Amino acid sequence: MPIKIVKNDADVSANNNRWVYSSSVKSHFFHPQNLVEDIKKFDESKYDGIGVVGSPACGDMMKLWVKIDKKNDRIRDLKWQTFGCASAIASTSMLSVMVTEKGGMKIENALKLKPQDILARLGGLPPRKIHCSVLGDKALRKAINDYFRKSEQYKRIVTEGFVVIDPDTKITDKDIEEAVLEGADTIEKLQRKLKVGINDKKVKAKAEALMKKFMEKYYA
Ligand code: FES
Repeated sequence: MPIKIVKNDADVSANNNRWVYSSSVKSHFFHPQNLVEDIKKFDESKYDGIGVVGSPACGDMMKLWVKIDKKNDRIRDLKWQTFGCASAIASTSMLSVMVTEKGGMKIENALKLKPQDILARLGGLPPRKIHCSVLGDKALRKAINDYFRKSEQYKRIVTEGFVVIDPDTKITDKDIEEAVLEGADTIEKLQRKLKVGINDKKVKAKAEALMKKFMEKYYA
């Protein structure tokens, strides 16, 4: 993805036009690691999990792919793409290095990784840019959950902060909301996408009601 350097970028101090970023942030912004530069040449089928998130704070998006070393339960490779700002680019670049260095981070440790850990390695970010570091962190969790789901390791799915709708597949209200936003407008489409309530009519009905609620919310 081409990176545009905007002359009057808000990330440059308005007073004296000096960078307020650490040298590590600048280095990762100008030379992002593990970035998917050309999506047309990128084969996402080689990856085990995909995570997509948007930031409500600024409307920016992040997409992240993980490849898993299944034998050792480590992250073998991580690639990403974003429409986020310089801080999001630098922090996701650093995140990608942290989880793939030294033979790859154990999945259990990657799930414990916090934006503060990324900030510490980056040498900090300006306070109003801290939310940008959350994008990569959230996308990583989603990509790992996606891997768990695709490999049917449902017990390992992290559902913190959401309401679990299907105890078998650990599908949450958030998963249903996102599926609706991605075009699931019938229960068949929803089930094809999420496998929610496949073996349980009550769960299926609950999922369908929630789907309708989100359709009403977004498309009424
Ligand atoms: S301002 Fe949106 S990602 Fe940084």
